[in-house]
Amino acid sequence: MTRFDPKELRNALASYMTGVTVVTARAMDGTPVGFTANSFTSVSLNPPLLLVCPGNHLSSFDIFATATHFAVNILAEGQEAVSNIFAGSKEDRFSQIHWSPDQFDCPLIDGAAAQFSCSLQNRVEAGDHHILIGQIQHYQASTKRGLGYCRDGYFSLSRERQSEAAAQGEQKFICGALVEYHDELCLLREPQGLFIPMVKLNDRSGARTSLLHHFDKLGLKAGIGPVYSVYDDAENGEHVTIFRATLLEKPALETVEFRPISQLSTNEFSRPVNADMIRRYREEHDHNQFGLYIGDAVRGEVHPSGGGGGDSGESGESDDSGESGESGESDDSANQ
Ligand SMILES: Cc1cc2nc3c(=O)[nH]c(=O)nc-3n(C[C@H](O)[C@H](O)[C@H](O)COP(=O)(O)O)c2cc1C
Repeated sequence: MTRFDPKELRNALASYMTGVTVVTARAMDGTPVGFTANSFTSVSLNPPLLLVCPGNHLSSFDIFATATHFAVNILAEGQEAVSNIFAGSKEDRFSQIHWSPDQFDCPLIDGAAAQFSCSLQNRVEAGDHHILIGQIQHYQASTKRGLGYCRDGYFSLSRERQSEAAAQGEQKFICGALVEYHDELCLLREPQGLFIPMVKLNDRSGARTSLLHHFDKLGLKAGIGPVYSVYDDAENGEHVTIFRATLLEKPALETVEFRPISQLSTNEFSRPVNADMIRRYREEHDHNQFGLYIGDAVRGEVHPSGGGGGDSGESGESDDSGESGESGESDDSANQ
């Protein structure tokens, strides 16, 4: 067998960037156990399978090597401390975090980006690790971004983007639309998830014209109605204006999906900012009464728009994506 320098080999393998998970289970005597793992991989959708690799160096190895169930918690940005606890702490790890048991009694960690409860489907001995293949029996997902890990340590996409925007000292102007067709919303399916149509502007002006060009490119025939939301997204260095729009005919495009507005699930959206706006939109659509949000990604105010569901254009007739940007001091958090 070829011998490699273990440290060098580990370094080479660590150039592969990953997320971070905490894998948990229960010992026979009921003690919760867990370790930090980046060997997580999604394996199959049908049946739903994933894998993780506990090493025989783990103090809990025997428990994982015989477990019939385990849980995988994908840590969210900001959970570096949780990762460190499960990678090193010698104290009782579970007394240092908030968690609750799943239906198999495996610990689910609060604030994780996603949690998967699994039954063991297969276990393969592979050198100094085991490969645990789990069948997902239940899962919960959020819109939080996962924490990243590479040779240099943890990283977070939000922080990277924030500092990139700050370094460039520039704000991007974005406009988008909630495109309705009767009681359905028209959404774009992209590899990262569902998005509403959005386009980058060169400057503050020409939002409606740019949006119409963008609709053309996407193959959508739509009319643009009033402004629905105007907010600064500091995390991405963006000033965003969202309009309501109405589709004139339903296109048969693979890239486009229609969802009943009353059943829109906020979990499906890739950016938390969109999910909050969608939640408000779903509620307002129910009452056929739409407001105008002005604020930022966390705090702002919904201004009543007066008219009912019609495209009255009361506050949105300007072709200017650079609304005043006043940030209301109300407690309407994150409801853009
Ligand atoms: C980011 C990260 C990823 C890790 N991935 C794994 C892994 O996939 N499998 C593994 O056995 N150990 C992995 N470890 C190491 C264990 O988390 C670490 O050895 C832990 O302290 C073991 O728990 P113990 O103290 O109960 O033995 C990882 C550590 C870090 C920081």
